[in-house]
Amino acid sequence: MTNNIFVIFGATGDLTSRKLLPSFAKLFSDLDYKGDSKVIALGRRDFSTADFFGYAGKSGLKFRDIEVLKDYTTYLKMDISNSENYFLLKNEIKKCQNKNVRVIFYLAVTPSLFLPISKALFNAGLLNKHDKNKVIAFEKPFGTSLTSAVEINEQLRKYVTEDQIFRIDHYLGKDMIQNILTMRFTNSLFTNSWNNKSIKSIKIFAKETQGILNRGAYYDSTGALKDMVQSHLLQVLTLLTMNEPKAFGSKEIVKEKVKVLRNLEIDETKSFLGQYEGYKNEHGISKASNTETFAFLTLFVNTPLFKGVPIQIITGKKLDKHHTYIEIEFIKSKAQQLNKIGGIGNKLIIEVSPESQVFLQVNSETSRHQLNMISNVGLQYCFSCNAPLEYGESYERLFLDLMSHSKTLFTSFIEVELAWQQIDKIKPLLNEVVTYKDYQQLETLMEELSK
Ligand code: BG6
Repeated sequence: MTNNIFVIFGATGDLTSRKLLPSFAKLFSDLDYKGDSKVIALGRRDFSTADFFGYAGKSGLKFRDIEVLKDYTTYLKMDISNSENYFLLKNEIKKCQNKNVRVIFYLAVTPSLFLPISKALFNAGLLNKHDKNKVIAFEKPFGTSLTSAVEINEQLRKYVTEDQIFRIDHYLGKDMIQNILTMRFTNSLFTNSWNNKSIKSIKIFAKETQGILNRGAYYDSTGALKDMVQSHLLQVLTLLTMNEPKAFGSKEIVKEKVKVLRNLEIDETKSFLGQYEGYKNEHGISKASNTETFAFLTLFVNTPLFKGVPIQIITGKKLDKHHTYIEIEFIKSKAQQLNKIGGIGNKLIIEVSPESQVFLQVNSETSRHQLNMISNVGLQYCFSCNAPLEYGESYERLFLDLMSHSKTLFTSFIEVELAWQQIDKIKPLLNEVVTYKDYQQLETLMEELSK
């Protein structure tokens, strides 16, 4: 049996406590994965493993998760900028006696550390080119701009092959994001109407109630466009608008996603950025910061399939609800357009979180007493309500794929590159950043611009 060792760089960061450790806990609670995995959490702080869990607990890690994880986790104090310290890590890994050890170096750190860490791992003999049992996973964003992403990718080739690189976008591990292609291509009901003749508009929402938490330094140099749009939301957009691939393998799917990214255009007159009131007073934020914590974008995909359909992305911090969903509005029927009959245009809503569910809004008569009384009713299926234990954090799926060396749920460099090209193009077009008190204020602005 192979032992999987996950080495987390950036283990005292917010992401580790909020997302990575709970996902490991869920995975390790599963009988199938018990016993063959280990987590080495690296940090500069002088912690014991118990101290580390105390700290992670204060940052939101649940007690029941700590109970699961404590048998599998070791905290190692390490200065990642000191090449000698990598031998401490080497010793820790050696303690795992099994010959079949798969080591996954997981870099939950800022992109400027991607190359120095990879180099130090290579120099210490912890990473070898072509060795599929030593792989490296990079949290998003992969780079901070097109130039930096290209530089990182090129330099990495000195230490590892493409086969050993896993670029994380945790949205690709979310059940309902994975479900997009299945919904589109296994239901002729949708396949035949998934185009600009039938779809009026698409809205992709990723609303959060929290602010920037303890991530001031990272967030202020990143902002919503680079933090959410460049990776997660452009991925969602490509899955929603790509042509049917020749086959459903990752190569063919990427080929179609790339065509979308190459043909993306923004309508900057119907787009704006915002910053929540009080952001400048957050820890680590400069008083003059112009970083956006909200983005409203109106985009068009200029392919024969989707030309002319507005696709809006709405994402931000400190909004009314924590809610991630996609709303697809269909054009009204001919009879409705000619006012021969009433009713709404159909809507398909795919909720990604907090629940994983699908609604289809249709027109129907609902009253026995009033003929021709058309109501809008919802056909709904909630996956997560019906099988709550099967639905969890998206990272579990990604970890499983990392363990089995399956690359389908990870982004290829060409997608990363094209997404950066888009963000580098969009950002300078949206200079003004509106200060917002609440979501209502933003909604009014979005409605005005969408007219
Ligand atoms: C991360 C961003 O990639 O995604 C965060 O860095 C954001 O700022 C998070 O909060 C949102 O992910 P989810 O899974 O909660 O929608």
